[in-house]
Amino acid sequence: MAQLWGGRFTKETDQLVYQFNASISFDQKFYKQDIQGSIAHVCMLGKQGILTKEEMQSIVACLDQIGQDVESGKLAITEEYEDIHSFVEANLIERLGDTGKKLHTGRSRNDQVALDMRLYTRLEVLYTDALLRELLEVLLDIMEKHIDTIMPGFTHLQKAQPVTLAHHMGAYFEMFRRDRQRLHDIYERMNYCPLGSGALAGTTYPLDREYTAELMGFYGPTLNSMDGVSDRDYLIEFLSALSTIMMHLSRFSEEIIIWNSNEYQFVEIDDAYSTGSSIMPQKKNPDIAELVRGKTGRVYGALMSLLTTMKGIPLAYNKDMQEDKELSFDAIDTVKGCLALFKGMLETMKFHRDIMRKSANNGFTNATDAADYLVNHGVPFRDAHGIVGQIVLYCIDKNIAIDDMSIEELKAISPVFEEDIYDAISMETCVNKRLTIGAPGREAMEKVIALHKEYLAHDWQDEVADQWEQSEL
Ligand code: ARG
Repeated sequence: MAQLWGGRFTKETDQLVYQFNASISFDQKFYKQDIQGSIAHVCMLGKQGILTKEEMQSIVACLDQIGQDVESGKLAITEEYEDIHSFVEANLIERLGDTGKKLHTGRSRNDQVALDMRLYTRLEVLYTDALLRELLEVLLDIMEKHIDTIMPGFTHLQKAQPVTLAHHMGAYFEMFRRDRQRLHDIYERMNYCPLGSGALAGTTYPLDREYTAELMGFYGPTLNSMDGVSDRDYLIEFLSALSTIMMHLSRFSEEIIIWNSNEYQFVEIDDAYSTGSSIMPQKKNPDIAELVRGKTGRVYGALMSLLTTMKGIPLAYNKDMQEDKELSFDAIDTVKGCLALFKGMLETMKFHRDIMRKSANNGFTNATDAADYLVNHGVPFRDAHGIVGQIVLYCIDKNIAIDDMSIEELKAISPVFEEDIYDAISMETCVNKRLTIGAPGREAMEKVIALHKEYLAHDWQDEVADQWEQSEL
């Protein structure tokens, strides 16, 4: 057991207590961030004359080496240390002796862990955003290819009006685009550095917190040291954004599962993204979509867990906060995995245009347009609705579509109908006459696709990259 705080104690920690308290098994995940933060801290201590230039240089070089050794596998992170902070510091002291003992000057593990978690989360916000961006590119590609692929649009899972596959995919484009905006917002709000908050009340050393913040690409330091060590809002916001991403992926999965079913056959999931049954040889199951739908629960769980953990914590740091890590790491990795797999599944999925088209034809999806035809010929809408209702009943009885009725049959129900009704209620007309922005008509879709292209040409992460380039670490 290697502890940083033994001085005040006369007795060894109980073994079970030690294990219960320790976090190294999971906080080793951010060893790089811990080292990065320590290097920034030491550079600042050197600049401020709190450490000599030589001390600063040797600590920085040694921290760097520790990082490389962990990365290459030469140095193993073992459970004999309480947490990743102890591991790094102990190794530094082992390698540098007394100079290493100066690392923690003007710092507490409270602001250290606040920084590490923030640095880790900040990076994961960017990784998640990049995956969303790739998914948007796949969606846009499908939209361009299927601008004329007619399918039924549903409400209540009942056929409603014809739309196109491009239009349907466009709805998901909007959702995932908003998800990216949420991540961008989170980045903007969280990008302030808590290091220098000390245990809770800052320190008496003349730290230059602006400088430390700048070294790590933050916009500046956090402005209240108590909040600095005990704020996990950014993580709650991120888990909330991740939950929303999963909610979107889960809805999408649900549709793909339905579309892939024997009854629908709108799509066929590629063999590489399906699995078989151990007993039923004919089966090809949409397991990936089902798993994505299923994993949504555990991401929501992480959000609920952290909200609940935080709700009763008085200022400032309390050990409860150590519970922010495991579930967050799991949620982040889960969402990234789901996004990557979902993209692959979507890219390789076959869309059965003919079946979609036939399905749109068969469900009276043009009934509204038939009523609109009557309205355009002077029939009040409420009457038109009633007439088309009769037509639908007639068709159900004969098991035909409205388009299959002869003009005589139509005229028998309303004399207003003329030959041009067939063109007015063709699927193409139904879709392409819907031209308000946001509607599935070809011209409207083309405009939206052009806007999406423009949107994807500018990436908010480019600005982040520029800013990071200017920072030194
Ligand atoms: N492992 C701790 C955490 O994750 C690090 C901070 C410890 N601070 C303390 N005062 N015990 O929150």
